[in-house]
Amino acid sequence: MYNIIDKVKSLIFYDADREFFAKVFPDSVKAIDLLRFRRMTQNDLPAVIAIEQQVYNYPWSENIFRDCFKIGYSCWVCEDAQEGVIGYGILSIAAGEAHIMNIYLSPKVHGQGYGRRMMEKLIDIAQEKRALSMFLEVRPSNTAAIALYKKMGFNEIGMRKDYYPAADGTREDAVMLALELL
Ligand SMILES: CC(C)(COP(=O)(O)OP(=O)(O)OC[C@H]1O[C@@H](n2cnc3c(N)ncnc32)[C@H](O)[C@@H]1OP(=O)(O)O)[C@@H](O)C(=O)NCCC(=O)NCCS
Repeated sequence: MYNIIDKVKSLIFYDADREFFAKVFPDSVKAIDLLRFRRMTQNDLPAVIAIEQQVYNYPWSENIFRDCFKIGYSCWVCEDAQEGVIGYGILSIAAGEAHIMNIYLSPKVHGQGYGRRMMEKLIDIAQEKRALSMFLEVRPSNTAAIALYKKMGFNEIGMRKDYYPAADGTREDAVMLALELL
């Protein structure tokens, strides 16, 4: 119990310090260090869907996100002080296994370390819920995401045939990746 209270206190004070220094000495704090994570709510859906539609040819509909809330998936957004919601991640955790259902960062911030921060957050959440391993699927053509996952320590464990919709009504396989969390 003490550990949890100390962790909460340290996060609050650390954030307050960072925000104080960012206001007084704007050059002393990087934007990424002011990134905040919080649970996604229904009110975030317009911003989340706008990001999803900017990036992806086969975006999730609003109903899919609403189903994620109903099912009880762990749904998170990250917020930047200026831009508001700039990314999100959705995790399913059950029976010691965590599955990343979705992770997206606004194209405005790609390649600046935000995807890594979101992955670190999702891994922390999975570990807090005592998951022992983490899984995800990714299109073989998504080289940026595969590079990120491999840098986070994920290993390829197989392929799912014809998993994703693709152009002209065809299907694209999924690469399955896994990470041991112990
Ligand atoms: C995939 C995605 C989450 C990566 O987020 P990001 O913020 O751009 O990634 P980061 O800047 O944190 O990069 C993390 C690592 O991945 C690598 N990486 C990121 N983009 C890369 C690219 N285009 N090519 C090669 N490597 C790349 C980087 O080398 C980086 O490693 P480093 O920290 O050692 O330098 C982001 O591009 C995205 O949201 N894409 C659209 C949605 C999507 O494809 N989601 C995944 C569905 S499975």
